Amino acid sequence: MNIPRRTVLAATAAAALASALPAMAQKKIVLGFSQIGAESEWRTANSESIKQSAKDAGIELKFSDAQQKQENQIKAIRSFIAQKVDVIAFSPVVESGWGTVLREAKAAKIPVILTDRAVNEKDDSLWVTFMGSDFVEEGRKAGRWLVDKMKDAKGEVNIVELQGTVGSAPAIDRKKGFEEIVKADPKFKIIRSQTGDFTRAKGKEVMEAFLKAEGKKINVLYAHNDDMAIGAIQAIEEAGLKPAKDIVIISIDAVKGAFEAMMAGKLNVSVECSPLLGGQLMQAVKDLKAGKTLPKRIVTEEGIFPMEVAAKEFPKRKY
Ligand code: AHR
Repeated sequence: MNIPRRTVLAATAAAALASALPAMAQKKIVLGFSQIGAESEWRTANSESIKQSAKDAGIELKFSDAQQKQENQIKAIRSFIAQKVDVIAFSPVVESGWGTVLREAKAAKIPVILTDRAVNEKDDSLWVTFMGSDFVEEGRKAGRWLVDKMKDAKGEVNIVELQGTVGSAPAIDRKKGFEEIVKADPKFKIIRSQTGDFTRAKGKEVMEAFLKAEGKKINVLYAHNDDMAIGAIQAIEEAGLKPAKDIVIISIDAVKGAFEAMMAGKLNVSVECSPLLGGQLMQAVKDLKAGKTLPKRIVTEEGIFPMEVAAKEFPKRKY
């Protein structure tokens, strides 16, 4: 039989299209994510949440660890732009210095999602949404807890503060929120305030210096995260003092390590800051690809856990 050449060509093209269709239908969304590093228990839980949620959502994740360096985050974002990923997300180590790279992403028409931490840029068209905690409110919660705890205290209440990474949103905002509350009563005095870079090792080192300089004058330690508080607890014990008794200790994150310290009677309270942002992030990526408009700010809901409830709450903790 003589089949016309045109019919053969049409059949071949149709077969090629049919075999390509499943691959086209399965084309995964590609998300480039630049993480700060692995400085704390919180950060580890945050990275796990993002990796697991990407897997669950069927999103291809290009994950880059910046080892606490802004220049590495900028390099990673530029590489995501070069690779033409569908969406870029990142948790900025510090607030400032992002304008140029964000404009490059915008010029390449790649939407950017900020997770966990904000940037200090006037042009908010450079990102589509910012999802994460309200750090100022976390500082306020810590301050309110202290004001209540010390309501009957006569005389000065001397506070030492372990700040997070210099220039980072949580360090700036947690300081601001806490001060806003405690400054209403002049008995509260922040006598020392220094960065411990959100790490246990630095928290211990700086607390040792505080103890050397101020000794028994210190009534309260306010640490911007649990890891620094846990490091400081070690320093307090090594100085022969009882954490959570001789020195009231307040920290932020409410990671499992903080619950263990509270159950051991060594930490008074931890304000919650949830690292479990992965699910929300993947949903946002999918919504963006489906052409939906995202709210400019998505705030995480969080609580506060004093040591008295730690044992009851611990089994429910996911990070
Ligand atoms: O940005 C969130 C903060 O960063 C967490 O409180 C801290 O533990 C982390 O390193």
